[in-house]
Amino acid sequence: MHACRNLQLEYLDLYLIHWPVSSRSGTYEFPINKGDLLPMDFKSVWEAMQECQDLGLTKSIGVSNFSCKKLSDILAFAKIPPAVNQVEINPLWQQKKLREFCEAKGIVLTAYAPLGTRGTIWGSNRVMENEVLREIATAKGKSVAQVCLRWAFEQGVCVVLKSFNKGRMKENLEILNWTLSEEESRMIGDIPQSRGCRGEDYISEKGPIKTIEELWDGEI
Ligand SMILES: NC(=O)c1ccc[n+]([C@@H]2O[C@H](COP(=O)([O-])OP(=O)(O)OC[C@H]3O[C@@H](n4cnc5c(N)ncnc54)[C@H](OP(=O)(O)O)[C@@H]3O)[C@@H](O)[C@H]2O)c1
Repeated sequence: MHACRNLQLEYLDLYLIHWPVSSRSGTYEFPINKGDLLPMDFKSVWEAMQECQDLGLTKSIGVSNFSCKKLSDILAFAKIPPAVNQVEINPLWQQKKLREFCEAKGIVLTAYAPLGTRGTIWGSNRVMENEVLREIATAKGKSVAQVCLRWAFEQGVCVVLKSFNKGRMKENLEILNWTLSEEESRMIGDIPQSRGCRGEDYISEKGPIKTIEELWDGEI
């Protein structure tokens, strides 16, 4: 109710749990002060999310940055299963296991950082400067961004991408009337994988999540 009022909306289309962590109430700052990190009580948080949907405050509810294991935990007691899991997906972090899991469970995957989130604290140019992607883009007369977005589209995932530039917004939409060849898809499939957004901000020796392994349940 409070969130809708702040946004001056009657309801949301989609409401997500941003990360599988909680923080001390009333002291929110970002990144969260490590001393304020708390373990998430998944059951009560998800019940509250379900209540938001039941009350009509949101059309759908979902999660973000959840591993297969954490999704399974939620599914074990959910009356309304998560509609969406929003996670990092790009050619350098393709999330094959999570994609298969979500497909089997009917959970829509949304790709954040589809271009590697250049220009942010944790992002880098590693996706946009990847040699394989550059080679494919040059051969096709497309941009590296378009190759990344077409690849995501062909994987059947939704994409959230931000640009403040009109030309780039247009470029990012022009991915529908061409395809990647089998060979190009194979080349992208062979790119060595590593997570860009590791979630270091949520790791603390004294906090509820002590290692990167634990945060992602080994999916790193
Ligand atoms: N759930 C989560 O934990 C999480 C984490 C990170 C991000 N997100 C969300 O994911 C969405 C996308 O993330 P993002 O925007 O940071 O990552 P991104 O899509 O990988 O990168 C966007 C950056 O690339 C630039 N860009 C856009 N189109 C381009 C193009 N065609 N060629 C070259 N550069 C281009 C943009 O700059 P210009 O504006 O200058 O074009 C922007 O700085 C956002 O809505 C964000 O809130 C969610």
